[in-house]
Amino acid sequence: MQAIDALTTRYSAKTLQEPAPDQGALRLIFESAVHAPDHGRLRPWRFVVVRGAARERFGELLAQHLQRTHAAANEEALQRERAKALRAPLIIVVAARCSRDVKIPVIEQQLSAGAAAHAMMLAAFALGFNAMWKTGGAAYDEALRQALGLTIGDAIVGFLYIGTPAARPAIAAARPWADLVSYWGEAT
Ligand SMILES: Cc1cc2nc3c(=O)[nH]c(=O)nc-3n(C[C@H](O)[C@H](O)[C@H](O)COP(=O)(O)O)c2cc1C
Repeated sequence: MQAIDALTTRYSAKTLQEPAPDQGALRLIFESAVHAPDHGRLRPWRFVVVRGAARERFGELLAQHLQRTHAAANEEALQRERAKALRAPLIIVVAARCSRDVKIPVIEQQLSAGAAAHAMMLAAFALGFNAMWKTGGAAYDEALRQALGLTIGDAIVGFLYIGTPAARPAIAAARPWADLVSYWGEAT
């Protein structure tokens, strides 16, 4: 697939299934991530791969987060959280590990992690896979971050759910952009 086709046709599939990217495809996905723009060459990215049976333990972390934040959550709601972890065969947790003692603002380091996440989604898409970018309250939960081996101060920018789309995409809705653009300084 041409890069421009990946950029202009990427979408998030509704349902993902096996196969997940194998090690060769994962290598290309991570190669894409580390080509994200990175002010100061700080490499402010961390990637945690969750796959196979580890997804069930990840689902348990999501359920524990819900329980901590919504004490009244019933078993059905907890089960829904657990099931989220199984909606794709592979999850990549994308985090920003920002340096505070440099002149590059933290927001720029976090934006770089967001750019890395987008690059990974596009790489997955170009390789015939699909990725969904999710967050939710769990992404901002310190206990969950620590359970994933991340450190205090790391920011999870997204959970990328990656797999093979279960169905062919419907006809894509148009995505207008002209109203978002202005041409400053040009005569009208
Ligand atoms: C930082 C970020 C967090 C997101 N979190 C969620 C989320 O928790 N749940 C969700 O349904 N969509 C979330 N989205 C949006 C979807 O990933 C997706 O972009 C959106 O549904 C539009 O679909 P598309 O990718 O086909 O354009 C998030 C997007 C971004 C950039």
